[in-house]
Amino acid sequence: MTTATIPVIAIDGPSGSGKGTLCRRLAQQFGFSLLDSGALYRLSALAAQAKGVVFTDGAAVAAVARQMDVSFGADENGAERICLDGEDVTHRVREEKTGELASQVAVLPELRAELVNVQHAARKAPGLVADGRDMGTVIFPEAEVKVFLTASPEERAKRRTKQLQELGKLPADLDPSRMRALTAQVADEIRERDERDRTRKESPLVPAEGALQLDTSSMPAAAVLAEVTALCERKLGIKAR
Ligand code: C5P
Repeated sequence: MTTATIPVIAIDGPSGSGKGTLCRRLAQQFGFSLLDSGALYRLSALAAQAKGVVFTDGAAVAAVARQMDVSFGADENGAERICLDGEDVTHRVREEKTGELASQVAVLPELRAELVNVQHAARKAPGLVADGRDMGTVIFPEAEVKVFLTASPEERAKRRTKQLQELGKLPADLDPSRMRALTAQVADEIRERDERDRTRKESPLVPAEGALQLDTSSMPAAAVLAEVTALCERKLGIKAR
């Protein structure tokens, strides 16, 4: 199989749209590799911050990204473990503020260009599920399957606060009025990040031509998975296991 014939399932959309869960399940059931491109931008931002590089200096941020030593692995329980330059950043990488920093460096054309090869290198047989913002438009425009997920900022904020409760980062019995205020604040942050991702010059967050567009606001995760699985089976001529 030459690289060009290795199938790619490109899943794009804003954070909280359900991409992460969908991509993990798709990779599992087709036995494909998974590319979490957002993690590359998150790690680049953390590395630039650690080196004291200003986020407006594209060449310097790209140079830091080129030199960063990243390892993606799993702990003894099979949970994700990410190290950056020898430091365990598994939790920091997923924090809301790291996502915000990632979206600031993601506007830099030098950084985006630097990360192209790393992303292409993830395309390994028997196939790849690519999770991001520009998978179907810029990185893998030839992908056989293209999906664009969306959900309202309010729904995404609810999912995020629920996730924070599950992770024990917010009290499970937070009173309803505080919960509403917090959810509204998270929704505002989400709108701000979306605006930056959608309006940037380089690889803006837009659906690829021909992408299946799904609004997941009121769709259960299982229904999203079923619909995208059926599309992949049809387009790739393979069966989910
Ligand atoms: O998906 P995730 O929330 O991890 O992405 C963090 C940020 O990285 C996004 O808000 C976006 O600005 C940037 N990103 C990007 N292109 C990608 C993946 C992520 O610009 N392919």
